[in-house]
Amino acid sequence: RLAGFGAGALVLSGCGLLSGGRGDLPALSRPAPTGRVLEYTLEAAPTNFEIAGRELSTWGYNGGVPGPEIRVKEGDTLRVRVRNRLPAGTTVHWHGLPVPNEVDGVPHVTQSPIPPGGEFVYEFAAPAIGSYIYHSHVGLQLDRGLYGPLVVEPAREELSYDREYILMLDDWLDGLPGTPEDALGELRGSGRGMMGGMMRARGIEYPNYLINGRAPEDPASLTVRRGERVRLRLMNPSAETVFRFAPAGHRMTVTHADGQAIGPVEADVLRIGMGERYDVLLDADNPGVWQLAAVPEGKRGQARAVLRYRESAEESAPPADVQPPELQGRLLSYADLRDARERSFPDGGLFSGPDRTFELTLSGGMGRYVWQIDGQRYPEAEPLPVREGEWVRVQMRNHSMMAHPMHLHGHFFQLRNGTGCGPFKDTALVEAHMGELAFDFVADNPGEWFFHCHNAYHMETGMARVISYA
Ligand code: C2O
Ligand code: CU
Repeated sequence: RLAGFGAGALVLSGCGLLSGGRGDLPALSRPAPTGRVLEYTLEAAPTNFEIAGRELSTWGYNGGVPGPEIRVKEGDTLRVRVRNRLPAGTTVHWHGLPVPNEVDGVPHVTQSPIPPGGEFVYEFAAPAIGSYIYHSHVGLQLDRGLYGPLVVEPAREELSYDREYILMLDDWLDGLPGTPEDALGELRGSGRGMMGGMMRARGIEYPNYLINGRAPEDPASLTVRRGERVRLRLMNPSAETVFRFAPAGHRMTVTHADGQAIGPVEADVLRIGMGERYDVLLDADNPGVWQLAAVPEGKRGQARAVLRYRESAEESAPPADVQPPELQGRLLSYADLRDARERSFPDGGLFSGPDRTFELTLSGGMGRYVWQIDGQRYPEAEPLPVREGEWVRVQMRNHSMMAHPMHLHGHFFQLRNGTGCGPFKDTALVEAHMGELAFDFVADNPGEWFFHCHNAYHMETGMARVISYA
């Protein structure tokens, strides 16, 4: 929308844009339908999966972890037939995409789980460009490997680059110490002890960290040629791990946060919480074979892929555990991120402020393994009411010892990061020990929307609410 001169006082926003009244709320503008329909089939089934030479059994889509790449253009209609060959009910959620409520894939909120042997067709027009994740939204199924990448391309690409790779970071229980359900039992203190020293107050020590389903001993290899510009889409569908990502020998230019364009910013290291995505560009100007490392924060180990120049085909990869010195370099923070289009809420004017503010505490993990939003546990928790068209603010304060990547379904929110035109995201980390975070969103997509911590174990033990349109 164009900045109009509405009823409110004229204010100079933090972005330097003149904005006026309520007509200027940065609501989602949906792309025109292209009329194209793209069909995919996802079969959720038990599957064998090999990491570092060991054959494991887990659950995945179409026989692999991650599941197949889904790629459409904005305005295309995506029709995904999901077949459930699991011994349990399942759903698919299109993480980050503001889809219509009835295809959002949240069990018992937007649909009943697809029963074993059943089928469900999700169909929607791709509402926004960007890098997204599709995943099961039932229990801890995400942590078994039921996830994959979804990319919505713009009608015309504005970035110029020569090659693109998707990197999905994961923490992995290898099935030997146990399943995700065993891990939850341990966390709750009712486990059989088989997972031994892996549980800690601050999270699970996983035996493996993976990129694109590959262990560090057998890394995915990204081939480039000198002189090329490479786009990486980094995604963290892991259950329980915040990663720090750094490419050795190269600097990153970060162009998108959670799929949405930001003013490009340079960094050596990116911190990427569960459910978050970042797109970065690398200029391939340093031939060799380089570590692309993802280090689990507060835990031991490393996931990696390697960047391999064609000119260096004969060189061997660095050892799996070598950490790039770049990990000590400049770490990107939320305060560095600005919306590329400099959109902002018309804040600060005499008559202009949010219609509704939720002040929420995040707590849990003390004594009992139970996590809460504002003292309430899902599913007993009351819904948070909004009305269509409202400007809603959410302010959170974290009273617990772990960081929480809070994720809102169905909407992009704007982070209040002090710049006045923070990035539009759908997932953001609220730091441990009294960390605070606030965001604004326009209630422009009616329905019942999940709002939760993307730590799968926190969500599963209560850290979720439903935002409900009156
Ligand atoms: Cu990744 Cu409630 O979702
Ligand atoms: Cu959490």
